[in-house]
This record gives sequence, structure tokens and C-alpha cells, in this order.
Amino acid sequence: MSCRKVKILGIMIIANVFVYIMVEVTRSGNQDKNSNSKVRIPDKQFWKKPVPSEAYWNREQQGLDLLYNPVLTALNNTSSTVEASLNVSQLTPCEPDLGVMTQVKDFNSLPERFKDFLLYMKCRTYPLVVNQPRKCKDKPFLLLAIKSLTPHFDRRQAIRESWGKKGKIGNYTVVTVFLLGKTTSIDHFPDLSEMLRYESNMHGDILLWDYRDSFFNLTIKEVLFLEWVSEYCSDVKFIFKGDDDVFVNTYRVLEYLNSLGEAKAKDLFIGDVITNAGPHRDKKLKYFIPESMFIGPYPPYAGGGGFLYSGSLALRLYNVSHQVSLYPIDDVYTGMCLKKLGLVPEKHKGFRTFDIEEKYRSNPCSYKSLILVHSRTPQEMIKIWSWLNNPELTCQ
Ligand SMILES: *[C@@H]1O[C@H](CO)[C@@H](O)[C@H](O)[C@H]1NC(C)=O
Ligand SMILES: *[C@@H]1O[C@H](CO)[C@@H](O)[C@H](O)[C@H]1NC(C)=O
Ligand SMILES: *[C@@H]1O[C@H](CO)[C@@H](O)[C@H](O)[C@H]1NC(C)=O
Ligand SMILES: *[C@@H]1O[C@H](CO)[C@@H](O)[C@H](O)[C@H]1NC(C)=O
Ligand SMILES: *[C@@H]1O[C@H](CO)[C@@H](O)[C@H](O)[C@H]1NC(C)=O
Ligand SMILES: *[C@@H]1O[C@H](CO)[C@@H](O)[C@H](O)[C@H]1NC(C)=O
Repeated sequence: MSCRKVKILGIMIIANVFVYIMVEVTRSGNQDKNSNSKVRIPDKQFWKKPVPSEAYWNREQQGLDLLYNPVLTALNNTSSTVEASLNVSQLTPCEPDLGVMTQVKDFNSLPERFKDFLLYMKCRTYPLVVNQPRKCKDKPFLLLAIKSLTPHFDRRQAIRESWGKKGKIGNYTVVTVFLLGKTTSIDHFPDLSEMLRYESNMHGDILLWDYRDSFFNLTIKEVLFLEWVSEYCSDVKFIFKGDDDVFVNTYRVLEYLNSLGEAKAKDLFIGDVITNAGPHRDKKLKYFIPESMFIGPYPPYAGGGGFLYSGSLALRLYNVSHQVSLYPIDDVYTGMCLKKLGLVPEKHKGFRTFDIEEKYRSNPCSYKSLILVHSRTPQEMIKIWSWLNNPELTCQ
């Protein structure tokens, strides 16, 4: 042994002896205390009231965190305390919450979409006007839930004719639903309700809720969908949720899911995961969020273009969503709910939300091992699907 190794060994032995002495001393000290005193119960409040955050969303979340804190709930003294310290609103939640006009300090100068969002931020119940209550009667293996918008008839039809074809693939039952809100004249949409009714009668795969389908209301779409799964599709094994402009290689999805172990399957949540992100502060960006509304980093989240997760996790996400204030960006919101559950979404390189390199796009073999690629037109979806179904396609 070299001299240096001996020295290190010596230091380690001394350190060990020292730790041993410390532990023994602490132990005997505790024993002394235990022998002549009972467990101490604090006579004063043992927790600090949180300092209300400057940002509205964070403040609302502090209120919910207190409300659902199991220790405080056990004291049966929570709600009065929460109200006193954070002024949690007691409004009927689906009336416009006019309080936000004063509680968000620059409310009047915010863009309209923020005002609309804030006024209805506490409302989560909207009527389901077109339902498919029997959609999951055969306990599907995979549910494809696609966020769409009423005018996108061609995208939905292309999905039905390609990667979202319902029925059996191998021995797996796959079912498809499209998630819609109302596109209204406030947003200058033409009235397409009769055409939608026709489509729905024809295909039986439309879920339509009565709320305004807008970018900031996609979080409502997420929560209402999770509620629908809990009520009408709670036995589903796996769920893919994504946009109507992505191509999904359903064969690859099934192959991947089939390869999972039971433990991994239970908590599965994969996608194109973004970590270390935060709100954009540039007013010109689509994802701009003002400081008066939210501060802090975003949790890891899977981009909303599409992600894949287990049915059992969907039920837990719905449960925990009641403890998370609505946030105007739906995929970030789902990340927040996962975080509350103590889970982290996993990045999978088969999710190509930023597309593949241009030179590979027209090569059928590029799509063999992919799960998702964004974006594709209806015609491209049908073309790629026919490539994947060509028995003569050989890729090394
Ligand atoms: C909590 O307090 C309320 C009244 O403040 C009382 O009616 C209720 O029984 C209490 N619950 C428990 C579990 O102690
Ligand atoms: C409830 O909490 C307040 C302080 O926030 C305390 O003064 C009061 O004694 C508590 N009541 C009960 C029944 O624990
Ligand atoms: C709580 O709300 C009331 C009215 O709803 C208001 O007068 C009061 O200033 C608020 N308190 C805090 C701490 O925000
Ligand atoms: C599907 O069929 C394959 C081969 O026939 C089999 O290995 C697999 O276990 C089956 N899966 C289910 C869910 O029945
Ligand atoms: C969300 O939908 C509700 C109900 O239709 C509507 O009142 C609100 O303005 C919408 N919010 C946004 C941001 O569009
Ligand atoms: C939902 O939450 C309730 C109470 O917090 C719990 O009893 C139930 O088991 C939860 N369900 C799921 C699916 O996590």
C-alpha cells in the first residue's frame, strides 16, 4: 500500500470513531429526556403562515395547499385560518370572479385573453353536451384522445382513416375520441353545429362540452377529459392524448406498451419532456405570462402535442387536479398535477414534436420506430399510414 492510501485509511477510521461517539452521545441524551418527560405538544401554532405571493396564481395555490394540507386538516381548524391568512374566495365559482380585477394588480392593462381566463379561473364544471357513454364498454387497451376544434373536419377524418382507426390492432382494442369545446361567434367562428351533429351521428366519437374553445381554455379541456375518463372509461389501460395535427405510429405505441413491465406501466407518463423551463415574459409570444399572474419555474412537463400515460394515472391526475389552481397553459398544468403526485414525466425520443430532419420526411422507414411526429397535414397522415401498412416495406 502506498503511503497516501494508508493516510486516507487512517483518516477514515478516525472519522468513523468520531461518528460513533457522536451517535452514542446523542442516543444517551435522548434516553435521558425520554425517561423523565412526555412527548411535547407545542402549545402555540407550530407552522408559519405563508407570506402571500405577489403573483395571483401562486397566491391561489398557497390557499389550496393549506386547504389540502393533511396535518392542518387533522387540526380541524383549517378553513377559517386559510380564509383569514389568504382570503380564499368563497364565490360561486362559475360566476365571473370580479374580485380578480383588484387582486391582480395590472388586471386592466392585461391582454383580453388573460382577463377572460382570470374571470373564470375557478370554474371547472361545464355541461357535456355530446357524450359517448358506451365508448369504453369493451375495456379498451388504448384510448386515443385528440384535442380538436370544430372546423377541423378533415383532420379528424384523416385520423379516423389512418392512425386513429378504431377497432382491433393485433389483439388490442383501440378506441378514439375527439375533444371539443364550442367555437362561438364571439371568436368569429362560422356556425358549424349542424355539420358537427352530422359528423357525431355518423362516427360516434365526438365529446363536446359547452365552454368557449380557446387556447387558454385547453386546461379546462384537460380537466374535463380526465373527469370523463374517471366516469366513463376508468378501466382503460393506456391513454394517448394529443393534437389533431400530429402523426402517431399506433403500431409502435402498442409495441412499446406491450413491452412494459407492470411497475412501469402503472405510473407511465412519457412524451417530449421539457425541463428547466419557466414563463415567457415577452408580451409578443404566444406563451407570454405576466409576472402579476405567475412567478417561479415550471415543473418538468411533456409538450402538449402528445403524451402517453396509464389509465390508472389518469384517475389519480383527476383526483389531484382539484388541488392545483388552473393554469392557462395546459401541458404545464398537467406537469403541475404530476408534481403534486410526486411523479416526473419521462422523456422518450420517439416523440418528435419538433419534427424530423427534412431529408428523412419522405422516407417511409423514418416512421417505423417513431411514436409521434409533429406536424402533418391530413393528406400526409394518410400517406404515411399507407407506407406503414405496406407489407412490402422493408427497413433494415
Ligand atoms: C370539525 O369542526 C366542526 C365545527 O367546527 C365539527 O362540526 C366537526 O365535527 C369537526 N370534525 C372533526 C373530525 O373533529
Ligand atoms: C384555531 O386556530 C387559531 C389560530 O389560528 C387558534 O387561536 C384557535 O385556538 C384554534 N382553534 C381550535 C379549536 O383549535
Ligand atoms: C380580503 O377580502 C376582503 C373583501 O373581500 C378585503 O376587504 C380584504 O382587504 C382582503 N384581505 C386581504 C389580506 O387581502
Ligand atoms: C396478444 O397476442 C400475443 C400473441 O398472440 C400474445 O403474446 C399477447 O400476450 C396477447 N396480448 C394480450 C393482451 O392478450
Ligand atoms: C373559457 O370558457 C369560459 C366558458 O365558456 C368562458 O367564459 C371564458 O371566457 C373562456 N376563457 C378564455 C380564456 O377563453
Ligand atoms: C382520490 O382521492 C380520494 C380521497 O382523497 C381517495 O380516497 C381515492 O382513493 C383517490 N382515488 C384515486 C384513483 O387516486
